[in-house]
Amino acid sequence: MTTITFITGANKGLGYETARRLTELGHTVILGARDKERGEAAAGRLGVRFVPIDVTDDAAVASAAADVEAHEGRVDRLINNAGITGRRAGAADLTGEDARLVFETNVLSIVRVTHAFLPLLAQSDAPAVINVSSGMGSFALTHDPDRVESTIAAPLYTASKSAVTMLTMQYAKAVPDVRFNAADPGYTATDLNAHSGTQTVTEGTEAIVALATEPPSAGTGRFVDRFGAVPW
Ligand SMILES: NC(=O)c1ccc[n+]([C@@H]2O[C@H](COP(=O)([O-])OP(=O)(O)OC[C@H]3O[C@@H](n4cnc5c(N)ncnc54)[C@H](OP(=O)(O)O)[C@@H]3O)[C@@H](O)[C@H]2O)c1
Repeated sequence: MTTITFITGANKGLGYETARRLTELGHTVILGARDKERGEAAAGRLGVRFVPIDVTDDAAVASAAADVEAHEGRVDRLINNAGITGRRAGAADLTGEDARLVFETNVLSIVRVTHAFLPLLAQSDAPAVINVSSGMGSFALTHDPDRVESTIAAPLYTASKSAVTMLTMQYAKAVPDVRFNAADPGYTATDLNAHSGTQTVTEGTEAIVALATEPPSAGTGRFVDRFGAVPW
């Protein structure tokens, strides 16, 4: 039986590369994107189905889940990938509105999408949620002088990704029937960082693809990059 995989923010960057690779590996990928034109174009290139989803919008998320329910009837892998860095500004200039947008997109949306998709995951024999977090949200890595993560100050993005990792661990404990794991792609050249990242998107999707294709025995409640376990 085919593995049905729903990916948010999959019209470009790491989400698109994940969609491309998992399609190649035989998954039935459903490409989620907030913009109809960009989403349809990306899905068309991969020959997969596009489902509109703005992860910050309750109604859009509910109708995406209803669409998948009507067409595929279940989801085996949910990949919460959509994310933003927020406005580039010095810490003193960051506003509550800046914070609201970053946390709304990166953190609240994971709860929103997971809530809407859990009934579809419940229809799977081996359901798994993969949350795309970041080493930038790791307390350990952002304090390790040997790591690039310690050289960057980005209060909102880093705090939002700490929350993503913690949400993943808490869902793993609270919902034992579904595996919840977090991926750190590593610093990857995408629009998110104006292509300053040092990895290719293929390297950046290694951990996500591994989590989406590993057997259920690999476990739940883990935070991994392409080299292995990441300290929280
Ligand atoms: N690149 C890195 O170095 C790196 C490292 C660690 C973690 N990550 C994480 O990896 C994930 C993917 O990032 P990326 O590097 O591939 O960035 P990207 O190329 O900017 O792609 C981000 C994707 O998220 C989508 N998105 C943003 N807000 C959305 C919303 N409200 N609803 C639906 N989709 C939305 C974007 O859609 P639009 O095209 O419509 O804007 C786009 O498809 C993010 O969670 C990011 O934090 C990236």
